Amino acid sequence: MWADLKAHHSQVKDRRFAEMLDAERAEEFSAEALGMRFDYSKTNIDAEGRKLLFDLLGQTRVAERRDEMFAGARINETEGRAVLHTALRNLDSGMVWVDGHDVMPGVRETLERMERFAEEVRSGAFHGAGGKITDVVNIGIGGSDLGPAMATIALAPYHDGPRCHFVSNVDPADIASVLRECDPKTTLVIVASKTFTTIETMTNARTAKAWMSDEVSDPAAQFAALSSALDKTADFGIDTARVFGFEDWVGGRYSLWGPIGLSLMIAIGPDAFRAFLRGGHEMDRHFHTAAWHENLPALLAITGIWHNQVCGHATRAVLPYDNRLARLPAYLQQLEMESNGKGVSMNGEDLSVPSGPVVWGEPGTNGQHAFYQLIHQGTQVVPCEFLVAARGHEDDLHHQHQLLVANCLAQSEALMKGRTLDEAREKVRDKFEGDELERQAKHRVFPGNRPSVTLAYETLTPEMLGKIVALYEHRVFVEGTVLGINSYDQWGVELGKELATDLQPVVEGKESAEGKDGSTAALVAFLGKYGLT
Ligand code: F6P
Repeated sequence: MWADLKAHHSQVKDRRFAEMLDAERAEEFSAEALGMRFDYSKTNIDAEGRKLLFDLLGQTRVAERRDEMFAGARINETEGRAVLHTALRNLDSGMVWVDGHDVMPGVRETLERMERFAEEVRSGAFHGAGGKITDVVNIGIGGSDLGPAMATIALAPYHDGPRCHFVSNVDPADIASVLRECDPKTTLVIVASKTFTTIETMTNARTAKAWMSDEVSDPAAQFAALSSALDKTADFGIDTARVFGFEDWVGGRYSLWGPIGLSLMIAIGPDAFRAFLRGGHEMDRHFHTAAWHENLPALLAITGIWHNQVCGHATRAVLPYDNRLARLPAYLQQLEMESNGKGVSMNGEDLSVPSGPVVWGEPGTNGQHAFYQLIHQGTQVVPCEFLVAARGHEDDLHHQHQLLVANCLAQSEALMKGRTLDEAREKVRDKFEGDELERQAKHRVFPGNRPSVTLAYETLTPEMLGKIVALYEHRVFVEGTVLGINSYDQWGVELGKELATDLQPVVEGKESAEGKDGSTAALVAFLGKYGLT
């Protein structure tokens, strides 16, 4: 399966793709749909490589698995669960069946309850001890934080509700700096935890409750919960009227579309939240029906597979030239790395190719003045994924937006073209001569032939954000299916959690570090000397 692709790669790897890139290639290796254009022409993928990649999708039954996912089959095989975050944005009248039961009435009912509550908070009908809610604090971590935090920043121009804050880290610095900005009498705390057991979230929730109880007689009345664990939310004292549950077929990192999106809904309002859902649903329909050569998630996935599993590039940079997508790389780190960072296939065999790549990034142009040096001249190749909008929201500053776009396009051009030694010599010929000219010129050479893809779109509206997030979700699905892994479990996060629980009494000084490895014991001793225990 992989052998043909590897053989093809070894034939084409030294070819300079800039030389192939005429207008015809730009069209043939781009696809437009839903107000987006995905351009993968600045890569070394050619018609034969793409055919082999599409063959791979066929051999690994991506289309069949996709249809199974949409139909509610239990494709999360290690946990025996369906994968149906798509149902949360299925605003059609369609039915979605899990075990002979249509889940859509429940989805719609929860969405409507969320909308009623969000409107009550926004209008003041629901209020705190001191009046209308001014601040919402979402306490959650991982998928219960990154999605709503990323989307709330992304959609800042649409905010017309109370201020929203996000607390995730168990580091007290996180919650302390947020609570300092809030008035307990006009703050709503949303505890977002699918399991309602995550230690960071529950610790912060208790801290917030204690903070509120100093000034509010019934703090639990200013708490809401987003969780599947109704018994545990009740134990915490949260009235079921303010508990919004979801089913086990919604994975944490795919949960922004349902109750975990409540803080976003309160910030931007139910109509804009529905537009976000609509965007996600449109991408679902596109993924479900478009042929591979025009299917945006499939195309994004094949470029990922080409660069990572075939070319062997271990990382990929996500570079939004859209400052409000500043948290998108962090969001995608969880989405992609928690989903596809696995070394064992669904049937328990070791993978024969690398698992999903390391995903990282920062918005442009900031990154240009930080790490792009390595991307252009470092010895390792970092495939780049640029995101750029035609328009921002600051119409009066559109000239700045144009400068932003020029930078984005210039970076992908520079990565592709590079600069030869001859060109570098010309740059410095008037300043240096002889050996010094050679030496100075070499430092100014850019190897070029560095791949990038660009996702261009109209503007970052709620609907467009929905399309972008769903696009990446389906890309993860395609890549995971090709690798034959389960993208929907996350056993790799367990061990560290267990060991942290074991270590807690040691760092509190209640138990000795005896039996721990030498390094851990010495670090506990050092930190103890400076006040840890
Ligand atoms: O990090 C593991 C994980 O289970 C993530 O998958 C999840 O998003 C996060 O912890 C938070 O879990 P919960 O919503 O149950 O608190």
